[in-house]
Amino acid sequence: MATIKERDSKVIWHPYTPMKAWPEAIAIVKGEGLYLIDEDGDRYMDAISSWWVNLHGHSHPYIAQKVHDQMMELEHCIFAGFTHEPAVRLAERLLEILPANMKKIFYSDNGSTAVEVAIKMALQYWNNKGFKKKKLVALQNAYHGDTFGAMAVSGRSIFTEAFTEFLFDVEFVPFPAKGKEGESIATLKEILQKGDVAAFIIEPLVQGSAGMYMYTPDVLDQYFRLCRKFDALIIADEVMTGFGRTGPLFACDQIDTMPDMVCLSKGLTGGAIPMGITACSQAIYDAFYDDDRMKMLYHGHSFTANPTTCAAALASLDLLLTPECEHSRKRIETAHAAFAQSITGNPVIKDVRQMGTIIAIELNTGSTAYHSNIRDMMYLFFRERKIVMRPLGSIIYILPPYCITNDELQHIYDTIKELISRLMAHGN
Ligand SMILES: Cc1ncc(COP(=O)(O)O)c(C=O)c1O
Repeated sequence: MATIKERDSKVIWHPYTPMKAWPEAIAIVKGEGLYLIDEDGDRYMDAISSWWVNLHGHSHPYIAQKVHDQMMELEHCIFAGFTHEPAVRLAERLLEILPANMKKIFYSDNGSTAVEVAIKMALQYWNNKGFKKKKLVALQNAYHGDTFGAMAVSGRSIFTEAFTEFLFDVEFVPFPAKGKEGESIATLKEILQKGDVAAFIIEPLVQGSAGMYMYTPDVLDQYFRLCRKFDALIIADEVMTGFGRTGPLFACDQIDTMPDMVCLSKGLTGGAIPMGITACSQAIYDAFYDDDRMKMLYHGHSFTANPTTCAAALASLDLLLTPECEHSRKRIETAHAAFAQSITGNPVIKDVRQMGTIIAIELNTGSTAYHSNIRDMMYLFFRERKIVMRPLGSIIYILPPYCITNDELQHIYDTIKELISRLMAHGN
């Protein structure tokens, strides 16, 4: 009997994978807490929460039980003209913890669609109100997803290169790197002053895919206040930062000014089943509440508010909102901080940055390109040591499920230190 790995290469096309160079995938047969277990019985530590989705560990029995129970009751039903308890309850519970001005929940399927919905809401909001505001503004190097609208508001990069001519124009503001915050804020102001900006979309406090680049809550608050002043809508893309990754439940909780829309996905269901959400303020909703049918939002996916997925999200919230989970996040934050201190100043390290449970180490290795040799070397280094890592160019990061223990964290830190020693020995 052929292995899963062998059968895979005959029929599967993997995401973000150069299939010629990387034909082989590791076949996972079981998930257990921090671990992914392959068909040979090898146990991999999932240091990046499987692309940042997993919050409480794999195959969590509590989430699994709730999903099973919901499946037996109502697995799915159309969400136009019909509703159900899991969708209503999830919306009620999310609105309790989201920024206070969020009043309505629109369901979709993933992070990219949550962003698409927000973009459509923003553009149609102004149209419905009779204003000619059509410009979207984003941060340079942002990543908001892979569908066309989401690509358009993302930085132009190798991810978008093949599609550049099909992407609508977006104005980009320089990233507020340390010492360059003033320049970035001034650029946003200059753009907003023209009065034609429909919305500003941003990954609050951490640009994930760009390389876990972080900036201060003060800068975020200044951006938001400028948008308020010049009447541009604010879309906070919390697809990665949501559900405690940066410390508090949402990155936006670290500032006073509130966004008009919040995009959620990834950790929303604890990483168990895909789901996207676009939360919005009453003002946004009201602009679509009209006798004129042309003012409604023409958007919806077949699996909108799937009850089974809602059950997973409700179960994940039960776990997330316990004091134990909050304690775990603080424990991870403290451990990361001590590790950061222990490696700072090393000549092969360009920068160490941390926020909440996210830590990133940028290496001084010449090329920072997504497909650089150093990136592949590091990926294989961790894979051989049974740690799931996907370096972003020369940047390695840990973004673990909250169930990770201090010993498991220490093992990952020690492996990173081994890599650093090796790089030093090779004169990098
Ligand atoms: C900030 C942000 N927005 C949107 C997305 C897209 O989410 P998805 O991959 O679920 O479409 C991502 C994915 O990494 C993300 O990090």
